Amino acid sequence: MVSSSVPPATRASASGRAYINDELARKAWAVLSANNRSGYTVPSPELFPFQWNWDSPLVAMALAHIDEERAFVEIETLLASQWESGLVPHIIYHVPSDGYFPGPEVWGTDRQPPTSGISQPPIAATCLRYIIEMSADSDAALKRAAPLVVNLLRWHRWWHEARDPEGTGLVSILHPWESGRDNSVDWDEPLNAFEPVVDVSKLRKDRLHVDAKQRPSDVYYDRVITLIQLARSVGWNDLAMVQSSLFRVCDVGVQSILVRADEDLMALLRLMGDQAGAKQVECWHSKSREAIDRLWDGEAGAYRAFDLRAGKFVPSTSATAFLPLYAGAVDETKAKAIKELCDRAFTLCIFAMPQVMPDTPGYDPDNYSRGPTWPYLNRIIADGLSRYGFRDSADRLRSDTQRLIARSGYREYYNPTSGEGLGGDQFAWTAAAWLIWAGLVEKEQS
Ligand code: DGY
Repeated sequence: MVSSSVPPATRASASGRAYINDELARKAWAVLSANNRSGYTVPSPELFPFQWNWDSPLVAMALAHIDEERAFVEIETLLASQWESGLVPHIIYHVPSDGYFPGPEVWGTDRQPPTSGISQPPIAATCLRYIIEMSADSDAALKRAAPLVVNLLRWHRWWHEARDPEGTGLVSILHPWESGRDNSVDWDEPLNAFEPVVDVSKLRKDRLHVDAKQRPSDVYYDRVITLIQLARSVGWNDLAMVQSSLFRVCDVGVQSILVRADEDLMALLRLMGDQAGAKQVECWHSKSREAIDRLWDGEAGAYRAFDLRAGKFVPSTSATAFLPLYAGAVDETKAKAIKELCDRAFTLCIFAMPQVMPDTPGYDPDNYSRGPTWPYLNRIIADGLSRYGFRDSADRLRSDTQRLIARSGYREYYNPTSGEGLGGDQFAWTAAAWLIWAGLVEKEQS
C-alpha cells in the first residue's frame, strides 16, 4: 500500500491532478491520512475506531483522485469480510478498542476479524465504478476490480433476496443502523412500538467523545441493542430475522442507493463482458426502481419510509426524500415536487440540507440524525439534483457544504442554522465528500 505520509501536493502533481492545492482539500487529505490504518480508514479515530461499511467506499472515491492503490485496498479490505450469505457487515472490528460500544461481544457473530451482523447502504458499486472511471489506466483498473465485482454481485443479491424474501422490489432494513441514519426521526414510531429488554446506559462510550446532547438517548440505545440481541438469538439467520424482527422498514435512502448502485454494477458487469450477471442485475434494477414509486406518500406529497410491521408510512419527511432523483427513478411531476421541497428546505435553514425537515416534530438541529446537515448526504442529494437538471440547487448544497467546512472544520455533522460543527471530529467521510466535490469541479473546468 502507498504510504500516507507523502505530502498531497506531491502526489497530486505526480498524477497530474492539481486541485489538491486548494486549502480545504489539503486539510481534507490530512484527515484521510491521519485516519488511515493498515488497509482501511476509520471514520473518526476516537468515536468510530473501526472500518464502517458505507464510509469506506466513499473514502475510496476521494482517494481515487490521488492514490488509486489505496482506493482499491480500502474496498478490497471491506469486501474481504463479506459473509457466505453475501452480507457485507456494517462494522469490521479489525483491531480491539475499548472506546466503542457495542463491541464484537455484543454481536456474537463469531467472525474473524469480528464483525457486526447487519449491513449498511450498498454504495460500494457506485464508488468502484467511479474509481475505474478516474483511473489513468482503466483496463488495468477493471482487471483489478473483477473479483470485487463478483463480491458486489453477491451483496446485491443478498439485499434483493434476503432483505426482500417476498420479492416485492422493496428491500427492508431490520435495524435503524442499516439505514446509516441511525436515530432519525423516521425511526421513532417503529422503535417506540416495542419495549426494550436491556438497559445499556452504563455501557455506552459515545458520550465520552461527544456531548450527550448531540447523541442518541438511552432508551434509543436500549431498543437498538434489544434488536441486536433478538437477531443474535436466531443465529443471524436472514429469514428468521425477517420473520422475528421487531423493526422492519423500507427506507427511501437504502432503496435509492441500492437502485443507483445496481445501475453502476450493471455497467461494470457489461464492461467486464459478464452478460449473464448484467442481465440478472438489470432484472433487480428495473423491479426495485419501479418499486420506489410505492414509497411516495401521496398525502404528504413526499417520499417517506414505510413501516412494514405497522403497515403505514412514517410521519416524517427526511433528506432521503430527495434520493429517488439520485436513483433516476422519478417522473416529471414528482421531480417538480422534490424540487419544491428542496426550495422549502432552503428557506428553513442557512446551511442545507438538514437530515429531517425543520418543521417536523422531533427535529433537533444538534442531535446526530435528527436534524443536522451531513456533507456526505449533501453530496449524493446534489448528484441526484444535477441528474434532473436542478443545477442551482446542487450548487447551493455544494456552497453550503464548503461554508460549513471552512467555518467549522471536518466534523461529522453541523447545525443547519448556526453552522456549528457537531459529533465526531476529523471525520473521514466529510473530508472525502469535499475532496470528491473539489475534484469533480476541477475535472469539469479542465
Ligand atoms: C454508532 O455507533 O453510532 C454507529 O453509527 C453505528 O453504526
